[in-house]
Amino acid sequence: MRFPPSLLDEIRARLPVSDVVGRRVKLRRQGREFIGLSPFNAEKTPSFTVNDQKGFYHCFSSGRHGDIFRFLMETEGLTFPEAVERLAAEAGVPLPRPDPASLEGERQRDSLYDVLEAAAAYFEAELDGPQGREARAYVASRGLDEGMVRRFRIGYAPSARYGLKEHLGQLGIAREAIERAGLLVTGSDIAVPFDRFRDRLMFPIADLRGRVIAFGGRALQSDQAPKYLNSPETELFHKGSVLFNLSAARQAARETGTVIVAEGYMDVIALTRAGFANAVAPLGTALTADQLGLLWRVADEPILCFDGDKAGLRAANRAVDLALPLLAPGKSLRFALLPEGQDPDDLVRAGGQAVLEQALARARPLSEMLWAREVESSPLDTPERRAAFEARLARTLAAIGDARVRKHYEEQFRERLAGLFGRGGARRAIRQRRSGSWSRRGDGGRAGATGAASASASLVRSLSSGQALPRREAIMLMALVNHPALIPERAETLCGLDLSSAELDALRSALLDLAADDVVDAASARARLATGPLGDLIGRIERMWSAGGRAEWWVAPEAAEVDVSRAWDHTAALHHKLVTLHRELKTAEMALQAEPSDENLARLFDIQSQLSNADGTEALMEGFGQASGRPVRAF
Ligand code: UTP
Ligand code: MN
Repeated sequence: MRFPPSLLDEIRARLPVSDVVGRRVKLRRQGREFIGLSPFNAEKTPSFTVNDQKGFYHCFSSGRHGDIFRFLMETEGLTFPEAVERLAAEAGVPLPRPDPASLEGERQRDSLYDVLEAAAAYFEAELDGPQGREARAYVASRGLDEGMVRRFRIGYAPSARYGLKEHLGQLGIAREAIERAGLLVTGSDIAVPFDRFRDRLMFPIADLRGRVIAFGGRALQSDQAPKYLNSPETELFHKGSVLFNLSAARQAARETGTVIVAEGYMDVIALTRAGFANAVAPLGTALTADQLGLLWRVADEPILCFDGDKAGLRAANRAVDLALPLLAPGKSLRFALLPEGQDPDDLVRAGGQAVLEQALARARPLSEMLWAREVESSPLDTPERRAAFEARLARTLAAIGDARVRKHYEEQFRERLAGLFGRGGARRAIRQRRSGSWSRRGDGGRAGATGAASASASLVRSLSSGQALPRREAIMLMALVNHPALIPERAETLCGLDLSSAELDALRSALLDLAADDVVDAASARARLATGPLGDLIGRIERMWSAGGRAEWWVAPEAAEVDVSRAWDHTAALHHKLVTLHRELKTAEMALQAEPSDENLARLFDIQSQLSNADGTEALMEGFGQASGRPVRAF
């Protein structure tokens, strides 16, 4: 039993150390302390001191040190409770009477561990024995070797009605204890309680200290229900606060920095076989807050592994909702979605280990799961739907309990929202469109694209005032306005083109719409684009082009298509290269700042020189311009 610290202090206050020690050791006062010959070592010069103010003794010859309780334990071999009892009596401090029920409860809980351990050993032995033949064959058929069987202590519960009960009875374990361990089926209508687990493959479930507290049993016959049977809730087993294999996985989780949560026993074993010893599973229920707390104690961002089908996604989303109120700085989740209809066990057995590894390596952060879920949950093609979406997002984010985490979610989602309804919106719509057909009208795709385009158009209006246009980008789009027949062939490139302004992105969307609607002649294209903010934008590009002396002559409506094509493709490639180089330049600059090494400096110079080369060589193309009646020249 435990003694409250206040009680121990009370006893210490009433009994000076010098009193307790003085009965055994002859002490002599020396300043504030007492000194004497060590009771632990034979010695001639005293090295044993007692300090009543500090409440302890110290023996310099043996290094022993302690208070009055420890002194009795060391010199008289008492246990701590015995020492407390003895000194409490001396000091006249009454001890609380031990609550007999709690004492009994503790003793019984202790013995339940023994019952479950004995059961586990029995199941293990049965798997090896004559009755375990079929179960052994099943184990082999699931690809489990001896090593895994031992490691997970897999066993077999024979089909006899009283097999375990009789075995434990022979060990002198009371029926009542077997019952309380959850190993028997009992009930008012059951005259003779019998074994809960019969003809099942047994997976022991351990607590954090590795002690067996429950079992999961898998049916061996396909007509046996349920497929998995777990121990009921007992004094030791609360399935919502236990994770299968956590005690064993903890070490590996610490080493790898993460823990993987699968759905079932066999998945955990398969993951272990595949080299992921840091795998755990809940016990046939959705993840609980308690379990999440356990996971966060071993890793900051546990990876939840789900089958990529509808049920798996639903389970993943449940986990998202569970986690939001519990998120804390640094603590999150990641999600690995496996190929549809496959669990880790299926994958490992089918030799899909690489697929599994990849899925784990690419696990998506919680924030992305959440964003994808919200965005995909309904169309965003009207202002009202967008407003509703925004409201829904706000409500979802309000569920985040930690203010700091919430703030960062809000910031990130605000940026994404801007991207979705602004420049990124068009890109998203294009992506949708790309998966459909270019020449036919895909109605679903159209609705989305038109919505995005009109949202972008409103942005164009708000952004277009007096902003300088990125020349290369504007020129490329202009060329397609004048030569819409070239769009379908370049749709892919056009979609991937890095555009640095929302208004240009809107124009791109409109160009893709033209192609989708089979508009190939320049006049009809103009007619469609001339109105509204896009018309203004095109006007501005034309003025910029004229002001620059129409250096890019191939943009003009009268340029030959073959020239426009070549120039456009070339410019797109150049643009891509420059954008990439600029990005690399940024990274190199940051790297240099973080670590001013020669190597990083050299890298920066290299990128700078590549950039100036690329900028200068808007390359010479052989034969370029002839079809348009132009002299061959570089541009
Ligand atoms: P699944 O039904 O997904 O099976 O159960 P599984 O893990 O793929 O099992 P195998 O591969 O057919 O052997 C996943 C988990 O759900 C719980 C178990 O913990 C199981 O590991 N479960 C399942 C139950 O508790 N009861 C059931 O009847 C079924
Ligand atoms: Mn399975």
